[in-house]
Amino acid sequence: MKKRLAIFLSGRGSNFINIHKNILSGKISNAEIVLIFSNNKNAEGIVYAQSNNLPVLVMDHKNFDDRKEFDQAIVDELSSYNIDLICLAGYMRIVSEIIIDNYINKVINIHPSLLPSFKGMNAQQQAIDYGVRYSGCTVHFVDHGVDTGKIILQDVVEISSDDDASSLSEKILTREHILYCKAIDLFCNNKLSITDDKVIVE
Ligand code: GAR
Repeated sequence: MKKRLAIFLSGRGSNFINIHKNILSGKISNAEIVLIFSNNKNAEGIVYAQSNNLPVLVMDHKNFDDRKEFDQAIVDELSSYNIDLICLAGYMRIVSEIIIDNYINKVINIHPSLLPSFKGMNAQQQAIDYGVRYSGCTVHFVDHGVDTGKIILQDVVEISSDDDASSLSEKILTREHILYCKAIDLFCNNKLSITDDKVIVE
């Protein structure tokens, strides 16, 4: 049975588009996208989803009293889709325990830094400001913290003296597209096992 993926996004959606193309080409196997979820009705990624006949669900968090109420509504909506894996792909909302506890070890995220460095927003700017020589991207399981979950895969990019946050973001994004697909393929083919403190990649 193919793993049923929900992709959560808030904006451009280049990771999502790349995941979709890699599923179509067979580079990600044993996977199908069954839902695109966004908290932002103007997210560019939605246009691509609609033109490729992928189901889209938009719910604006501003219509809810708090994060938990919003996440409960998402969980309720998702229940009929039998989701095996939620991929956060530029989803700019903190995911509460309401989602995490309903999808234990089934939520993954891509973050544009070498975690545990530079968690949270503007990770590329944080790396430039700190003056590190290398940064990169991390795919990790999502736990109850922000960017603290167990690491699945990472890739490194070198930062040159003339890089700014924008050029670094571009460099990292190229690697993100490859890394996220690799991680999803591993998950969908049962090649990831989770121990108390680590993810073992087969
Ligand atoms: C990506 O760089 C992703 O790593 C980052 O947002 C961008 C989304 O791009 N995510 C985070 O910073 C999460 N904390 P995309 O919409 O083109 O995939």
